[in-house]
Amino acid sequence: MSAYIINGGNYLSGEVRIGGAKNSVLPIMAASLLNLSESILLDCPCISDVDISVEILKSLGCKVFRDGNTAVVDSSQINNFEIPPHLMNKMRSSFIFLGAMLGIGGKAVCGYPGGCELGARPIDMHLKAFKKLGVAINEGGGYISCDSSRFKACKVALDFPSVGATENIMLLACKQKGTTTIINAAREPEIVDLQSFLNSMGAKISGAGSNKIKIEGVASLNSVKKRIMPDRIVAATVMFAASAAGGNITLKNVNCSHIESIILLLQSCGADIYTHGDSLDIICSKRLRAADTLRTMPYPGFPTDAQSQAVAAFTTMEGTSIVKETIFENRFNQASELKKMGADITIGDRLAVIKGVKRLYGAHVYAPDLRGGAALVIAALGAKGTTVVDNIHYIDRGYESLDKMFSALGGDIQRKDFYE
Ligand code: EPZ
Repeated sequence: MSAYIINGGNYLSGEVRIGGAKNSVLPIMAASLLNLSESILLDCPCISDVDISVEILKSLGCKVFRDGNTAVVDSSQINNFEIPPHLMNKMRSSFIFLGAMLGIGGKAVCGYPGGCELGARPIDMHLKAFKKLGVAINEGGGYISCDSSRFKACKVALDFPSVGATENIMLLACKQKGTTTIINAAREPEIVDLQSFLNSMGAKISGAGSNKIKIEGVASLNSVKKRIMPDRIVAATVMFAASAAGGNITLKNVNCSHIESIILLLQSCGADIYTHGDSLDIICSKRLRAADTLRTMPYPGFPTDAQSQAVAAFTTMEGTSIVKETIFENRFNQASELKKMGADITIGDRLAVIKGVKRLYGAHVYAPDLRGGAALVIAALGAKGTTVVDNIHYIDRGYESLDKMFSALGGDIQRKDFYE
């Protein structure tokens, strides 16, 4: 197991470059199956979810080469269209590979992605859309067996703007005959990045970023080279850390239009934020004021993936904040750990009421999930005394060396790896 040892209280200052986005590179790695050729990915983050995606690609017969933040996928020798349960279970978003395997045409089999700490996370919308598009689906024995040979392009309406379901349909349809249209599509920037990647391969997709996406099937796709978009959630995490610990930080390689909801929220709390091109300065030199209410929403609303980090920052702001989590049924797992540090948080049905206290205090806490773990690091950086954040394998899923990033900004944080 591994943990972070954090001595709180240091003011954070300096410059940090934001790397490639986890939630963009994962669907793009699945999409790299489709061109049966080479895909070069720049700014590919070194995180464990990417490691699992590499494992899945290799299990399907792809060759994958990595050198720092560059990954090269060669899908010309794909020889397997089945992902076993033990690999599917390792990562919730592994289900995105099903659409890509079926997108090549023919049969594909995979296990269930399983729920996670955030809730049930069903796949009903994915399967409903696939069936509408003519995919034959058989479920049994823990496997989902699909056949897209009778694919029939048509309009598909999503009950909810599901990010994964939107991406899965794009991957399934881009090499199939006819025009497929997604109604009520998710509008996240990562979907725009996926469209840009697929179109660079020769796909004909339009509308990503809006709630209606049109996919005109093409017969083949080519090799591609693509820089992954900056990770808007990592940028948000740094901004909430500056809010909690005090700071004067310049973020480089950030797409400010992707984080407008976070910028506006923190400005309303009293942070000074200036944007210029692909850089952003955040200065928090005094205790911030609590946000009245915060509601997570599909993009461009406030992202659920930054909710845990916001709650951590709210714990020491002046006043009371109310946070409503509308996307996942169980995404306040960080609250019980923050309370060990002296936070005053009351949890209701998808609701958190946070009464700001002057200071948090160091404690031994356990990361409950990826973003909950990042929230505990944020709280610890601003707390008085030493905090041990345990179970940081969750954090490794989506953050590349979070300790090195905050150390470079003046945070006193060290990683300790305990080998059984
Ligand atoms: C993506 O997950 C992200 N993951 C999540 O980020 C993010 O929280 C989520 O989108 C929402 O923005 C990746 O991109 C790899 P959804 P996804 O389908 O696609 C329900 C992180 O921290 N739903 O938009 O799984 C679902 O249970 C991760 O980086 C169904 O009911 O999210 C959830 O309540 C966490 N049936 C809601 O919709 C379905 O078939 C949104 O899920 C699909 C989803």
